[in-house]
Amino acid sequence: MSIKNELKESIIGLDPLDQRVIDTNLCKADGTHNKSALGANSILAVSLANLRASAVSRSIPLYQYIHSINKQVSKLNKEPILPAPMLNILNGGVHADNKIDFQEFMIQPLGFNTFKSALRCGVEIFNELKNFLKSENLITSVGDEGGFAPQLATAEEAIELILKAIKASGYEAGKDVFVCLDPASSEFFNENKYILQGADKHLSSGEMISYLKTLTSKYPINSIEDGLDEDDWEGWKSLTETLGSEVQLVGDDLFATNPERIKRGIEESVANSVLIKMNQIGTISETLEAVALSQENGYKTVISHRSGETEDTSIADLAIGLAAGQIKTGAPSRTDRVSKYNRLIILEEKFKIPFVGKNEAL
Ligand code: PGA
Ligand code: ZN
Repeated sequence: MSIKNELKESIIGLDPLDQRVIDTNLCKADGTHNKSALGANSILAVSLANLRASAVSRSIPLYQYIHSINKQVSKLNKEPILPAPMLNILNGGVHADNKIDFQEFMIQPLGFNTFKSALRCGVEIFNELKNFLKSENLITSVGDEGGFAPQLATAEEAIELILKAIKASGYEAGKDVFVCLDPASSEFFNENKYILQGADKHLSSGEMISYLKTLTSKYPINSIEDGLDEDDWEGWKSLTETLGSEVQLVGDDLFATNPERIKRGIEESVANSVLIKMNQIGTISETLEAVALSQENGYKTVISHRSGETEDTSIADLAIGLAAGQIKTGAPSRTDRVSKYNRLIILEEKFKIPFVGKNEAL
């Protein structure tokens, strides 16, 4: 049977309003522990289509429907709230053809009362950054997540440029807006060393932690995602002890949106925040479970796009409906990224949803 027919057969006759039963059956049809038979992307497509159809049939916006089904999953089921955006405005690593080792340099506007004004701050800084790149004869073409991909070599050069753009836009770094990093360290971890080619550094786990500490003491950085390799649990523990009280430490490759890995993180006091990617785990119900588990244990949550994306805007509603607090969905460029920002603005205007406060987001 084709994948399409297997997926179809597994849910025919079921109640679409019972998302959990739909998802359980999709997982059963796959039969593997990591969805390798039918594939997480195809399973998610069906799970998500069912979720969206259910919201339409109830005549309520998707975020409200998500909030309503989340009460079966989450003990907290916090009231819907608009997330603080994390805009990836400068791309490196495997997302760009430059020498920068770290994958993402983001800005997070926090000192604002509405999502719209926070986003406006992000857009102004993005445009100012383009002006600086042009004036320094650096290319302004963009990487996978819509951020610029100039030929720089080090994280410091990238951050300095972003700080210039923040200042030129009339905002104060460390007050109105913060810098967030996603080194995506698993990508350059080899034989127990963190190999930073652009910066010409070969670092042990401890040295990598010291390097991240130096960056956070020098710059207004409030969040670091995948600061270490996904299987360097010992290193992560020490990174959390070193920086966890001052900086958000987000596990992306580390947790893979997988409740089993998140549980291990909670038990071992590793990281303090979880990146949530729907297609990493593969169904809506398991995504809700991963968020509930994180929130109930005091971990922050960041709903995330993928570098390969479509214009689907479901993650905007997911971030609001689950009161995730933060969303990471690229630079304000490329329709696959901008569509999510537009959806958030529309929902803010239409339903007067509050914007997450500075203290609540992080
Ligand atoms: P990916 O990147 O979608 O290529 O995994 C996004 C990220 O690392 O956050
Ligand atoms: Zn990441």
